Amino acid sequence: MHSELIHQIETYSHSAANAEEFMTFIVQRIQQNLPDYNWVGFYMLDMKGAALGKEPTLVLGPYVGAPTPHTRIPLNQGICGAAVTQGQTIVVDDVNSDPRYLACSLETKSEIVVPVRVREAIVGELDIDSHKNAAFTPADRDFCEQVADILGRFLERNT
Ligand code: SME
Repeated sequence: MHSELIHQIETYSHSAANAEEFMTFIVQRIQQNLPDYNWVGFYMLDMKGAALGKEPTLVLGPYVGAPTPHTRIPLNQGICGAAVTQGQTIVVDDVNSDPRYLACSLETKSEIVVPVRVREAIVGELDIDSHKNAAFTPADRDFCEQVADILGRFLERNT
């Protein structure tokens, strides 16, 4: 399924009208086809305040799953903030034993957050929650990183 999804997402990346539409396609396609991926969404980095001395913030973008109270996440909070500040994918097998975790749904047991890069700079991230403990294997990580790379290349071409 992973390679089929990568193929579909890569193909769509050459015809999507804009980033919003492409990200919506990605989250829907992934969530519909991978049963343990219960919440799938993007957070994008808002740099607008940077010139005013404000900290960059992650802003919720297209997502599928339970509504989350975390529509804006400062970089010093959450697993989402940590993935940007550390500049790397974070996999958490048991969210309840990770003090950084910001709860979205009580059902969530594990999470993966993968940075999205444009010309090597992080511009956002793909965030996925599962109701299953340790749902994200090395193969899932590889898949999610490929998805983030395809979006990064799309953003490079289109922004
Ligand atoms: N769990 C994330 C917050 C986002 S919600 O899961 C949608 C975190 O700890 O940063």
